[in-house]
Amino acid sequence: MRTWGISALSHDAALAVVEDGEILLAAHSERYSRKKNDSALHPDLLDEAMAFGAPDMIAWYERPHVKKLRHLRAGQWADAVSRADVPRRYLRFLGLPFPLPRIRYADHHHSHAAAAFATSGFPDATVIVGDAIGEFRTFTIGRFDTTGRFEVLHRRNYPHSLGLLYSAFTRRCGFRPNEDEYVIMGLAAFGEPRHEDAIYEDLVELEGPSFRLKVNPHRGIGDWLPEASDADLAASVQAVTEEVLVRATRWARANTTSRNLLVMGGLALNCVANSRIARLGLFDDIWICPNPGDAGSSIGAAAAVTGMRLNWSGPYLGTSVDGEYPVDALLDALADEGVVGVASGRAEFGPRALGNRSLLADPRPADMQDRVNAVKGREPFRPFAPVIRAEVADELFELPVPQSPYMQFTARCKAPHEYPAIVHHDGTSRVQTVTPRDHPGLHELLVRWEERTGCPILLNTSLNSRGEPLVNNREHADAFARRNGVAVL
Ligand SMILES: [Fe+2]
Repeated sequence: MRTWGISALSHDAALAVVEDGEILLAAHSERYSRKKNDSALHPDLLDEAMAFGAPDMIAWYERPHVKKLRHLRAGQWADAVSRADVPRRYLRFLGLPFPLPRIRYADHHHSHAAAAFATSGFPDATVIVGDAIGEFRTFTIGRFDTTGRFEVLHRRNYPHSLGLLYSAFTRRCGFRPNEDEYVIMGLAAFGEPRHEDAIYEDLVELEGPSFRLKVNPHRGIGDWLPEASDADLAASVQAVTEEVLVRATRWARANTTSRNLLVMGGLALNCVANSRIARLGLFDDIWICPNPGDAGSSIGAAAAVTGMRLNWSGPYLGTSVDGEYPVDALLDALADEGVVGVASGRAEFGPRALGNRSLLADPRPADMQDRVNAVKGREPFRPFAPVIRAEVADELFELPVPQSPYMQFTARCKAPHEYPAIVHHDGTSRVQTVTPRDHPGLHELLVRWEERTGCPILLNTSLNSRGEPLVNNREHADAFARRNGVAVL
């Protein structure tokens, strides 16, 4: 049984091919079209999927009719009557070279939850899903029992949405909503949460296991507190977000029996909040799928409709750039230039570059942060992430979890002055730990980098310029190298 899981027509379209419990392919459309957050499936991605043969079933990541009802209720009349986003019609329009198989629809938050449960290896789990908006739902606490049955224990519906509120603050601070939320999370470290009480006064009420909103964040928050600094606004909305998630985690622990926690939805990209949750120590184990947002729901939809557990071998599930991981050449380039790109193996599925579409650099020189930011054309306050062998990570970072292979948690750096390029303003780093099983080539590179230089860390950031999707194939890698004057091996 071969299933295509599809998340499309909203933002950041993605397709996963799943067969007999194996994820054969999972990839973002934007990497092929070079259009950031492309909502349509690109023909080259469909061709790659077709290489595995025609699907027996298509799993769609949300229920289109329920979503139409929400459009009606939200007064989005044009969206409510539009037929352009009807999945069956869209799939016909794609002109696929096979008769359309059966299409099954999964609930949006069920898709999020199932992506995590299916890949977790947990026998049972408690799950928290938070995002901007599903069909109606914005926040779910639920559980999976050992048979894989999913039960919802608590839900919040539109317009009470923490994700939409975060996006409203993203806009308020002059950034792009639904895209730059991670910038707000970074900016928060530069401010003080001095408007937290004002948020509770004007915008958010903590209630039950989660929250209610006093405004409809879909309409934005205008110039709420016009005198406030962007950094303080960011710190304040971040503090409220963490408080809500901590509250939900405590409630989930008290009201479920599993010791395994899944966190999913766009809010699970908030690695500062993830670390707060982990530090509570209420659950024995936490699993956040490396692609917890809607794109990851391509895998989630397939898992939700088949009820299947999936063999998780890592996030390297996309387009392949063939050849050995170029350890020797990377070492030489790092020693000579300090910065080098790598495009090798299968592309990462998820927003983070984890070694196969990465820009790597020596984290020690004082000017390295500026140099890499200049290569990428990014905001100067944006921190870079370190990658380190899992076996020595504790020597340099206070991680809230045993391992962090997907950069989902922040940790205080114990030697911030030695590695200035990878430490954020607040003294923390968003750490990627690597074992030989996670990525043998990257692990070997780190071993030999330390042998050569005494430094156990590399800076690891995504191989793209600001506002661009990650490099996908060799051609994109060569173009990046030409444009930015950095070798990409
Ligand atoms: Fe979502």
